[in-house]
Amino acid sequence: MRIPISKPFIGEEEKKAVLEVLESGFLASGDKVRDFEKKFSKYVGTKHAIATSSGTTALHASLLALDIKKGDEVITTPFTFIATANAILYCGARAVFADIDDKTFNIDPESVEKKITQKTKAIVVVHLYGQPCDMERIREICSDYGLYLIEDACQAHGAEYKGKKVGSFGDLACFSFYPTKNITTGEGGMVTTNNDEIAEKLRMIINHGARKKYEHEILGYNYRLTNIAAAIGIEQLKKLDKFNDRRIKNAEIYKELLEGIEGLELPYVSSSVKHVFNQYTIRVKERDKLKEWLEKHGIECGIYYPKPVYKQPLYMKLGYGDKLTNVERVCKEVLSIPVHHSLSDEEVKFVAEKIIKFFKH
Ligand SMILES: Cc1ncc(COP(=O)(O)O)c(C=O)c1O
Repeated sequence: MRIPISKPFIGEEEKKAVLEVLESGFLASGDKVRDFEKKFSKYVGTKHAIATSSGTTALHASLLALDIKKGDEVITTPFTFIATANAILYCGARAVFADIDDKTFNIDPESVEKKITQKTKAIVVVHLYGQPCDMERIREICSDYGLYLIEDACQAHGAEYKGKKVGSFGDLACFSFYPTKNITTGEGGMVTTNNDEIAEKLRMIINHGARKKYEHEILGYNYRLTNIAAAIGIEQLKKLDKFNDRRIKNAEIYKELLEGIEGLELPYVSSSVKHVFNQYTIRVKERDKLKEWLEKHGIECGIYYPKPVYKQPLYMKLGYGDKLTNVERVCKEVLSIPVHHSLSDEEVKFVAEKIIKFFKH
């Protein structure tokens, strides 16, 4: 048996939808993209959704829409995919890293508050692995200090905080449709917002600064999604709740079979959230040995993430010298095991059995 760490589920519906677009001849951004945006905003519960070419471009365009620039500081987590912090650098601003909560691995609001200076303009929170951040506390801080809030919801499609979907808490929120995510379009992204002005500016930014064809008012980019990708997205969105249910069920099976093993810490799920398990991340002191053991048995594992962003060579070269206690410890101990929506009960049980065996040795 070989079990990959992620595997997108593409059905006949997606194939048919793509073929229709190919046959229509309208391949670039058009009606399918508008339809996908409408359906996505309805799903998240925001007034606007603007499709982009990736989660990374969604983040970059969002920061630009808030006019983040050189001289500004944006606070974010060092325990994320590099794109979150890089989007801040693209704008010429400085990424300031706050420590994470030891239990949820999400950004720690108290650490955020300590990092605020006169230059701070915004906070980018990441709903890591599919678990929403402490949005109440974060929003309170943003409101107290007059800061913008961006949600990086690239791993959290359909996740909820106190019964409300992520993507509707920030001034803007960004999603990714990369194939490892809870739904995919190949490459692709989406920004959601309730702010009309920001939505309009964002549309210009992703479309070469133009509101009207060949009338370029500001410096923009080509960050558009294609109709081909949107056609896949529309079909995937219909299946998102079912995919998430499967991920949650897989997590429940792991909990049932693995709870109580000494030396193994299962994911902590806050009582305020619906966690959609983009990743199921356990914590083990002998992380590397367990990874090796599981891979020997055909089970692919991931380390998300092996080092804090500020320790990436690029950031070291830029002079970042942070030392944040929780994130440094967590990076050495986390291991993500397969939890994706294409797994069967048998496969999940197989993974659990191998983990139990490892701890018996
Ligand atoms: C937390 C986070 N932010 C941003 C991104 C970037 O998204 P993309 O790969 O679609 O550019 C990803 C996914 O790769 C992610 O996991």
